[in-house]
Amino acid sequence: MNLDSIKAVAVLGAGTMGNGIAHVFARAGYNVILRDVEERLLQRGMDTIGKNLDREIKKGKLAEADKRAVLARLKPTTDMKEIAAAEFAVEAVPEKLEIKRAVLTEADRLLRPEVILASNTSSISMTTLAAMTKRPERFVGMHFMNPVPMMVLVEVIRALQTGDEAFATTTELAKKLGKTPVAVNDAPGFVSNRVLMPLINEAAYTVLEGVATPEAVDAVMKLGMNHPMGPLELADFIGLDVCVDILNVLLEGLGDPKYRACPLLKKYVAAGWLGRKSGRGFYTYA
Ligand SMILES: NC(=O)c1ccc[n+]([C@@H]2O[C@H](COP(=O)([O-])OP(=O)(O)OC[C@H]3O[C@@H](n4cnc5c(N)ncnc54)[C@H](O)[C@@H]3O)[C@@H](O)[C@H]2O)c1
Repeated sequence: MNLDSIKAVAVLGAGTMGNGIAHVFARAGYNVILRDVEERLLQRGMDTIGKNLDREIKKGKLAEADKRAVLARLKPTTDMKEIAAAEFAVEAVPEKLEIKRAVLTEADRLLRPEVILASNTSSISMTTLAAMTKRPERFVGMHFMNPVPMMVLVEVIRALQTGDEAFATTTELAKKLGKTPVAVNDAPGFVSNRVLMPLINEAAYTVLEGVATPEAVDAVMKLGMNHPMGPLELADFIGLDVCVDILNVLLEGLGDPKYRACPLLKKYVAAGWLGRKSGRGFYTYA
């Protein structure tokens, strides 16, 4: 499927990433079939999109009149069969291999054979996911960053099987969304998490060893290295449980003990201190 033939896009999952992905496709003029398993979850996703569009209006990035047009291009549904109308599909369902397998095999069955199927997985091998489908040469990684409407990067990840045409079309599509695609080959953690997680892990070790407080570690990285967020603030934002899971993927996939999760991260997760989402991590949140 070439870029110009793509008019309708299916987004599987309306959670944190799915609603953001649906938002940026609809904003770029694509019709979006947004699928989740329950009406309640679709409603929540649509509410988030509405609020994020309002934020863009307030910042002067979107005209008030365009909001209605963007929302009109979104079609929330619980009926998986509706995705058959799409000319491109991206999955953003939970990071569990068996859920991915179920969703990808069903999507593969429903989508026309020439349609590219993309995954937003953060840590599962794209090559493994591609092999679950009957269209491995039209399977590709499209790794958006959270929050999707704000973050410019899309890692476009080439599975071993990904064909040049699918890779090129996905790259051009990311540009159409106003994103900057960066080409990456399939490997544990891709580039983003392969580089970020050891930084977060090392920051946690400096706290564990009493080298500095979380505030001091973050201040050093913000003021000295020009990072907009300190690594521990960022870890709280991502979720400390998610950080530990990704470190485990790096450890298992690359086999180097340097990726072992810091005991302090594991202890916080055991205590339920998961970061922002639980009200406490390295910092406390109201
Ligand atoms: N959260 C992040 O910061 C982030 C960043 C980059 C990539 N990712 C990746 O994006 C994917 C989604 O993560 P998330 O944080 O949005 O998760 P989430 O839990 O917020 O959302 C997942 C959604 O998928 C839905 N779902 C489950 N089964 C489904 C099915 N069969 N069909 C359609 N929808 C289904 C769930 O109901 C839920 O609404 C994961 O692979 C994750 O690794 C997450």
